[in-house]
Amino acid sequence: MTEDIKKGLLGIVVDETEVSKVMPEINSLTYRGYAAQDLCAKCKFEEVAYLILNGELPSEKQLKNFEKVERKERNLSKILLESIKNFPKKSHPMDVARTAVSIMGLEDKETKDNSPEANLRKVMRIFAKTPVALAAFYRIRKGKKIIKPKSNLSFSENFFYMCFGKVPEKEIVKAFDVSLILYAEHSFNVSTFTARTITSSLSDIHGAITGAIASLKGPLHGGANEEVMHMMNKIKKPENALNWINNALDQKAVVMGFGHRVYKSGDSRVPTMREYFSKVAKVKKDKKFEKIYDIVEKVMIERKNIHPNVDYPTGPTYHLMGFDTDFFTPIFVISRITGWSAHILEQHAANKLIRPLASYIGSSYRKVVPINQR
Ligand SMILES: CC(C)(COP(=O)(O)OP(=O)(O)OC[C@H]1O[C@@H](n2cnc3c(N)ncnc32)[C@H](O)[C@@H]1OP(=O)(O)O)[C@@H](O)C(=O)NCCC(=O)NCCS
Repeated sequence: MTEDIKKGLLGIVVDETEVSKVMPEINSLTYRGYAAQDLCAKCKFEEVAYLILNGELPSEKQLKNFEKVERKERNLSKILLESIKNFPKKSHPMDVARTAVSIMGLEDKETKDNSPEANLRKVMRIFAKTPVALAAFYRIRKGKKIIKPKSNLSFSENFFYMCFGKVPEKEIVKAFDVSLILYAEHSFNVSTFTARTITSSLSDIHGAITGAIASLKGPLHGGANEEVMHMMNKIKKPENALNWINNALDQKAVVMGFGHRVYKSGDSRVPTMREYFSKVAKVKKDKKFEKIYDIVEKVMIERKNIHPNVDYPTGPTYHLMGFDTDFFTPIFVISRITGWSAHILEQHAANKLIRPLASYIGSSYRKVVPINQR
């Protein structure tokens, strides 16, 4: 009998969640009931991080406390800092993020404690330290001095400061904040499902986030924002875009930054990120990537009816902000830690070991022949 296989778990509902949903009635991704674009317009990233982790938007006092803890937890241990200094300079920053979180797990006094209170404390440490670890590597591999975090700067401002030594124009910081809000959570995507699967064996949060980072690295998931930039660099100038994309489609290539497992007629995060991409391009006085963007998008919709996903506008936006291409997916990490963590907490609160079945298509039963008779 052949079982009904749902390869890639396509269309399978495996659990319940209160964290996020793409609501068809408003055609939008929502976090805890709030539309992501509404949050982008009215909140800073820290408020959304609080919402995702705690279920409600913070009051001013709650936000202040949340920020106080995050800022206090920013410093890295000596072991972690020394380790980062000794990482191969050519390491992919996603591997640096993965290893850094793993090292945090070695050092955390509460690693084994999976109570909700301890898990939330650990989340705050991972959330605060991961950007600092990444920025340290960003500087080290360029032969530059590490810049220590500053506790009077917001999450986004501090990341720019630690990478570049200064906080950019407020439009750039806001665009970065918006990208973090849009990347923060997206239900049972592959990295979140990885985190929940690891958690389901009652393993610890550092392990679950380490696994999630490995999962996010792939080009079919978070790695797509880097691939978009590689594509734009190959296209080089707007005049080449039409030929390039038509040739790619003639050759049946998968065009990065397009398509989505959930959204089939457009990712609701794209219009917001497109708007901020434009604002950044204006500040940077560089419209080249916007022109390439529009041409490729038009052809993808006309020829394939496939729409862009959020990685399409974030790629060139991060490039214009000055980040190296291989840092795009790590930026996704520093935001998605919030979503992963909310799911890890949810999984712990109503756990069931995740253990699917497989349809066996291997050899039929056979006896072992001893090695000297094979
Ligand atoms: C995201 C993605 C993996 C979704 O995959 P999925 O739901 O399994 O959909 P499929 O891969 O089965 O795609 C369905 C059809 O659209 C085509 N398609 C989907 N995305 C495409 C893309 N980006 N470029 C070209 N064709 C694409 C597929 O080739 C397939 O065509 P076929 O039916 O003729 O074989 C897929 O769209 C993709 O690989 N996108 C590029 C990577 C990316 O941007 N990832 C970030 C996601 S947020």
